[in-house]
Amino acid sequence: MDVFEKLVKDGGPIGQHMDRAHGYFAFPKLEGDLNPRMKFRGKEMIVWSLNNYLGLVNHPEVRAIDTKAAEMYGMGNPMGARMMSGNSDKHDALEKVLSDFVSREDTMLLNFGYQGIMSCIDALVNRRDVIVYDAEAHACIMDGIRLHVGYTYTFKHNDIQDFDKQMKRATAMAEKQGGGILVITEGVFGMDGEQGIVKEIVAKKSEYDFRILIDDAHGFGYMGATGAGADEAQGCQAGVDLYFSTFVKSMGSIGAFISGPKAVIKYLRYNTRSQIFAKSLPLIIVEGMLKRMEMVKTMPELREKLWANVERLQIGLKERGFDIGDTNSPVTPIYMKGDVPEATSMVMDLRENYHIFCSIVVYPVIPKGDIIYRLIPTASHSFEDVDETLVAFEEVKKKLDAGLYKAADIPDMAEKS
Ligand SMILES: Cc1ncc(COP(=O)(O)O)c(C=O)c1O
Repeated sequence: MDVFEKLVKDGGPIGQHMDRAHGYFAFPKLEGDLNPRMKFRGKEMIVWSLNNYLGLVNHPEVRAIDTKAAEMYGMGNPMGARMMSGNSDKHDALEKVLSDFVSREDTMLLNFGYQGIMSCIDALVNRRDVIVYDAEAHACIMDGIRLHVGYTYTFKHNDIQDFDKQMKRATAMAEKQGGGILVITEGVFGMDGEQGIVKEIVAKKSEYDFRILIDDAHGFGYMGATGAGADEAQGCQAGVDLYFSTFVKSMGSIGAFISGPKAVIKYLRYNTRSQIFAKSLPLIIVEGMLKRMEMVKTMPELREKLWANVERLQIGLKERGFDIGDTNSPVTPIYMKGDVPEATSMVMDLRENYHIFCSIVVYPVIPKGDIIYRLIPTASHSFEDVDETLVAFEEVKKKLDAGLYKAADIPDMAEKS
């Protein structure tokens, strides 16, 4: 069979709906500055889909430094990979700031989070080593693990009993293979908002020999007393061997980093393929990150505002009888029941009539009959944004329960070109 023919016929699990969904349910275009209120198809919406936790992305000081840095350096500077020609004092300086901030010996900048962590996983283990990881880890962790040619064991999401069970198997296998064990989980899970059980896993170091890497993409910058992340919040930084985060969430930028023991980071600098063979972070980004880090360190009011909005939204939803699961972070899922056409009609009503823009997850990403809305409160939302949204959800829930969204199929909302 022709490779292309097969692809076009199938479309893939999400792509099968593209003819009706493109530009609305998938690939929507939000217009205007990255604020809590943006335009979608000509209408102003309250936006709950951006992981702009600290509200930095459109902060005037951030916009000013990004503009200045663009003028100073242009997009291409420096050229080449760090190892060849793309290094600078500013890259070193940012690594030092990040190391101090997350209380680790050393840090390596990564040009992208996804490829960065994949490649770090690839570099950290050899065929004799064993990886043990949370079943709901992000796709980039899964893809990193797919590069691993040795044994892997998955533990049920945030389940310490199952972790124990898998660690027993992993320990036996590592002994047999003559390798070690790398455990990987997340600081904050971006879908359900639950923090990873990092502290509980770290405590298991007294029972098993392993190293742990956490992906704290969703916790870095605001979790914990200083914003250093989920492991700071859980009081177990010293036990987390490698700390990874990206700059694409609370930092409102691009790029990522990994921090840990000096000797290991040194090894990674010379052995992480996605960094050795790809362009280093542009100086615009590095300069902008130095400013953002200064703001994170000196402006606790950003974190305070974020948490005030989180509390108002989450308490408001609970008081109205919504199931928001076990989130203990700003990520706010709302669990509902309904089929895919019903869920899409509800999203349309929310957008068209209540002017609320948020993400929705349905089958086949989650089981049939489940609907998850995901709201991301940020420091830049106002209490009015929260209150308007609570009223809207209360009303659409009543309509859902009354069966008013029952529809035969997914409506055709595709962008017509
Ligand atoms: C948990 C997690 N890890 C890694 C990434 C990838 O980071 P980046 O967008 O910097 O490639 C994301 C998404 O951005 C994420 O949510």
